[in-house]
Amino acid sequence: MTQHTLAPAATRWWRDAVIYQVYVRSFADASGDGVGDLPGVRSRLPYLAELGVDALWITPFYVSPMADFGYDVADYRDVDPLFGTLDDARGLVADAHAHGLRVIVDVVPNHTSDRHPWFQAALAAAPGSPERARYVFRDGRGPDGAQPPNDWESVFGGPAWTRVPDGQWYLHLFAPEQPDLDWDNPEVHAEFADILRFWLDLGVDGFRIDVAHGMVKAPGLPDVGHANQVEMLGTAVLPYFDQDGVHEIHREWRALLDSYDGERVGVAEAWAPTPERLARYTRPDELHQAFNFHYLSAPWDASEMRQVIDESLRTAQAVAAPATWVLSNHDVKRHVTRYGGGEPGLRRARAAALLTLALPGSAYVYQGEELGLPEVLDLPEEFLQDPQRGRGADAGRDGCRVPLPWAGDEPPFGFGTGQSWLPLPPAWRALSVAAQERDPGSTLHLYREALRVRREHPALGDGPLRWLVGPPGTLMFAREQGGRTLACAVNMGEKSVRVAAYGSEVLASGPVQRDGDCLELPSDTAVWWEVL
Ligand code: GLC
Repeated sequence: MTQHTLAPAATRWWRDAVIYQVYVRSFADASGDGVGDLPGVRSRLPYLAELGVDALWITPFYVSPMADFGYDVADYRDVDPLFGTLDDARGLVADAHAHGLRVIVDVVPNHTSDRHPWFQAALAAAPGSPERARYVFRDGRGPDGAQPPNDWESVFGGPAWTRVPDGQWYLHLFAPEQPDLDWDNPEVHAEFADILRFWLDLGVDGFRIDVAHGMVKAPGLPDVGHANQVEMLGTAVLPYFDQDGVHEIHREWRALLDSYDGERVGVAEAWAPTPERLARYTRPDELHQAFNFHYLSAPWDASEMRQVIDESLRTAQAVAAPATWVLSNHDVKRHVTRYGGGEPGLRRARAAALLTLALPGSAYVYQGEELGLPEVLDLPEEFLQDPQRGRGADAGRDGCRVPLPWAGDEPPFGFGTGQSWLPLPPAWRALSVAAQERDPGSTLHLYREALRVRREHPALGDGPLRWLVGPPGTLMFAREQGGRTLACAVNMGEKSVRVAAYGSEVLASGPVQRDGDCLELPSDTAVWWEVL
């Protein structure tokens, strides 16, 4: 087992870590082929260390035909040549640790690629064979079996079943190139335990578990009974999601994680109907964290936001887990755009950053949100590649996956040297890392400063939250710990408000005016102050 020396005994680092999501394809391209890669990530580790995050979550870089950009894995124990080599992965983990950054990698256990040797063997084998028993093959309905076995729909649109030449059907909750594994099969358990060990031995600090709510299906695969069943990160109650049986798998994995030194963690990507159901993934003998998509989905509205925050805290506390907070990822419209786009969208996104980083628990930052990047809504048709596109009602996820602008005057702004796989808008010149370095009022500086304060202030991170009474449309709360108190106010309303704020400002997302013991807080603005 590879030992690394980051953590002495029990820091419980994951309870308040800020974890930065690297979407490898779009982060930094060292090879010059227009696609981001592991050497690119490695070269930018100083940037991430300076930003002040605690860990990276790196999206899949395993061997893949890229039907779903790496979420269709053909070899779980090797790196796709597009992204580098296994040595690059080793080097990246070692360098990240040397920078004080932990590394979480993705594991994709709900489905493999259709090019995975197991699925190829299943196709070559007969119905009823052990090869087919690793996946969900069934006979169809109707006299000649020409109807799918049930009415389940794929997340990407269309039926969740595809027929093979001998007449059987196989299940794929996502693209047809992503056949679902059958987790009732002990062989599948053994294989994934081995895959997890492979990466833990290589030194990773944990896993983000893709579709952690999907591996177990309701017995008998019952019909849902209606169409338009499922959406990305949705909350519907469905026979193929959030079944009680998935928790057995997470218990098994928790025991495996705990058998390693260094506090290795598991993070569930689980779409659960309610915060209560979500919290079940983080019971003490299960995973350490679960993404909080209820928070991500909340509108920019103080009372709705407060309700989600309260429910998230209450349900996480009930299982002694940290709450987590996430505003954007590679599957959803970037929050600058979700919150209205343009100048107002950016103002709200900056305020949301101070809200998020002041809440108790752990926070996720999706690459580029520290630059205030918006969704790119007008990508030329010929570049669009997301498998979700054209299969569902959604416009697809390419717009949140546009590569990062690093420096310079012309696209691809230092992302790489050649034409990038998705084009960067010329207007991103002003949003590049280099441009924002030069501007002390930039979103990049706001994030750096917020992360610095969060690291140094004893009341931020894990710990209690006390709501304060503020004007309508405003969230106000205090964090108290270690003899110090930091207060946060976020004005989500349309008008300026005056809030009682004894003490001194620490950081604000926009211009605030002090007037004695009060602060004048403009619309869509957040402020932190030290209560004296
Ligand atoms: C997760 C990933 C998403 C992918 C899907 C299928 O939701 O975040 O990008 O398409 O799983 O693996």
